[in-house]
Amino acid sequence: MLTTLKQVLAAADRGKYAVGAFNVNNLEILQAVIETAVEEKAPVIIQTTEGAIEYAGMDYLIAMARVAAKAPVPVVLHLDHGKDLKVIRQAIRSGYTSVMYDGSLLPYEQNVRNTRKIVGWAHAAGVSVEAEIGAIKGIEDLVHVSDKQAFFTDPDEARRFARDTGCDALAISVGTAHGAYKFKAEAKLDIPRLRKIDSLVKVPLVLHGASEVDRAMFRRMKNRCDIIGDCKRLSGAKGVPDAEIRKAIRAGIRKINTDTDLRIAFTTGVRETLLSDKKAFDPRKILALSKELMKDAVRDRMLVFGCRNKAKR
Ligand code: G3H
Ligand code: 13P
Ligand code: ZN
Repeated sequence: MLTTLKQVLAAADRGKYAVGAFNVNNLEILQAVIETAVEEKAPVIIQTTEGAIEYAGMDYLIAMARVAAKAPVPVVLHLDHGKDLKVIRQAIRSGYTSVMYDGSLLPYEQNVRNTRKIVGWAHAAGVSVEAEIGAIKGIEDLVHVSDKQAFFTDPDEARRFARDTGCDALAISVGTAHGAYKFKAEAKLDIPRLRKIDSLVKVPLVLHGASEVDRAMFRRMKNRCDIIGDCKRLSGAKGVPDAEIRKAIRAGIRKINTDTDLRIAFTTGVRETLLSDKKAFDPRKILALSKELMKDAVRDRMLVFGCRNKAKR
């Protein structure tokens, strides 16, 4: 059933686990996420970026999510990294049950002003709001934060920000990064900072850039890179180890975002299928392995997040 972020995170807070938020751009990714959530009896957050909306169209995404939400587990439809106030307003009016406003690169006061405005629109419509303080590095389609722009969340600023904006969940920066190249040195989060933030902030905390970048799957994606011509990219890929994720959950993280792990699984499936079956011609067959690999990735993440068997009807 379709529900709000506030509701699923309140339950996660009580149960001391985290809910997975998976980036969805098309039917196959959505099916992989929802089918796994149902199999694992887990609450789940389907999130679409502005890039996903540009690609698939908001109406298509909402229509698919409504069908997905018929599943017997709590499903949140969330806008990830919303920056354009028009898109955010449209999402609130059209059926999203949660929106993120990402004003993390703006001056503090402007981030507060914009977030408050969105909280006003959203709460009037029964929609939850995730906001961000501190900038998480990494480069994706429309989410672009350079190493220089990135900065860790200041605990006291986080406390004031959550209080002044009235947001329902807060994304913080404690060492993760978007994409497959998260750490140049040791793959480690700033857990003491996270604990401090959790002790000062009342709303549930969100971890972005949390993909594992499984070595075996990444290597599998790179198999026959000589044919694809991207062998160089293998070096330096590093994700967040499961042990760090577990520590982060113990320290108060309740929503965990995953996109890169799905991209790696999807790409591996397409590459393997096309490399092994030169006659492959049917889109359904070309995407079948990708869907299975994405389901494995979602299942693996849900196991680490501790959200399996937490769905209540
Ligand atoms: O931060 C979230 C995503 O990984 C960025 O995805 O390419 O859809 O903007 P996007
Ligand atoms: P990853 O790139 O680590 O999957 O993070 C995704 C994310 O934070 C989406 O908002
Ligand atoms: Zn993110």
